[in-house]
Amino acid sequence: MLTKVIAFENVSKVFDGEHVAVDDLTLEVEEGELVVLIGPSGCGKTTTLQMVNRLVEPTGGTIRVNGRDTSTFSPVELRRSMGYVIQEIGLFPHMTVADNISVVPDLKGWDSRKKRERAQQLLELVEMDPAIYADRYPRQLSGGQQQRIGVLRALAVDPNILLMDEPFGALDPLTRDQLQEELIFLQERVKKTVLFVTHDMDEALKLADRIVLMQDGRVVQADTPNEMLANPEDDFVSEFIGTERRITSPLDVSVKEVMLNNVPVVKVGTDLRQSLDQMRKGRGDYLAVVNGQNQVIGITSADRIQYAQDSGGPSHIEDVDQVSSAVRPEASIMEAVHRLAESGDEVLAVVDNQRRLVGTFTRGSLPRILIDELWPLDASSEIEGDEIKL
Ligand SMILES: Nc1ncnc2c1ncn2[C@@H]1O[C@H](COP(=O)(O)OP(=O)(O)OP(=O)(O)O)[C@@H](O)[C@H]1O
Ligand SMILES: [Mg+2]
Repeated sequence: MLTKVIAFENVSKVFDGEHVAVDDLTLEVEEGELVVLIGPSGCGKTTTLQMVNRLVEPTGGTIRVNGRDTSTFSPVELRRSMGYVIQEIGLFPHMTVADNISVVPDLKGWDSRKKRERAQQLLELVEMDPAIYADRYPRQLSGGQQQRIGVLRALAVDPNILLMDEPFGALDPLTRDQLQEELIFLQERVKKTVLFVTHDMDEALKLADRIVLMQDGRVVQADTPNEMLANPEDDFVSEFIGTERRITSPLDVSVKEVMLNNVPVVKVGTDLRQSLDQMRKGRGDYLAVVNGQNQVIGITSADRIQYAQDSGGPSHIEDVDQVSSAVRPEASIMEAVHRLAESGDEVLAVVDNQRRLVGTFTRGSLPRILIDELWPLDASSEIEGDEIKL
């Protein structure tokens, strides 16, 4: 028989004798499954998650982990047996990256060599060179790197369950995308049973094997992403999907069909004069800055470089003001517009799953495609010279 790794049976949580946070929840998570809990603020997602590791004690019902009633574990034993990742993970500031990763191994009494090796192995898994990062302190890392260490810390003793509560919620869109990709990649390799909380439908659709939509402490619908998109149970579900998704429906055109793909690129460390020269060889107004692995760090413009030069400020391209929002080539143009509006930036990097540049998308990318939609190719044979015959 297939063991359900996590099983909620008629679980409830009532705070202070009156506030019902979770109401008669029944849900099973199978081995290797990534289940996303989603729903409006206050619907009980965090409470549900925290009842699994007994940070919150249920008021009623039973939760089983690998078949065993969690109330029969000591809470400490239970917590150490599963990874837990939260937003702004709270790495210990006075401890190095390697020591942060080794918190649970340390509690479990691993020797120093084993701890060190495990930390190195995990850093390599997310392509952070241990020689560079193992001995850094959290404040010497970017937000995305810190969050990555939070995930590694949760994986340190190789638990079979991972609990993640909006782990990428505080990151900029580019970094969030990248960490989502990494989680998918990790999940392919390590196959954990994951309970993941988010309020971002795009994130849920991207990551979930199954989405559990909650409202007022109850499960409204639990289904695969495709099933939920195709057959929403009721108006609440379609509205919830709709607020994020409806915007993508009007034009089913992908970013790669309209992006500019001849954007000049310079490497980190290039000085400003060279960068400007490089930029002027291209036709657009933008320049992409990439690192040694050709991953996009940001997009900058002639104006910004000129300003940096005139102000006598930075001397290298990476220190010039940049925007770092990004979108995938497969995304719809409406999603890209949404992303532009959200970030307030005027340009998006279009990147592949390795964060390498494939193009740029600006507001200017839009009219052309709208025109193509309105005057498809067949009709264009009617166009002669500058005259459009209707
Ligand atoms: N310790 C507590 N004492 C009293 N009420 C609580 C406590 N923790 C949570 N609640 C209440 O329980 C309900 C569910 O909270 P929970 O944190 O699970 O929501 P959530 O779905 O994670 O929301 P968000 O998306 O805002 O994180 C809310 O109404 C909240 O106010
Ligand atoms: Mg929450």
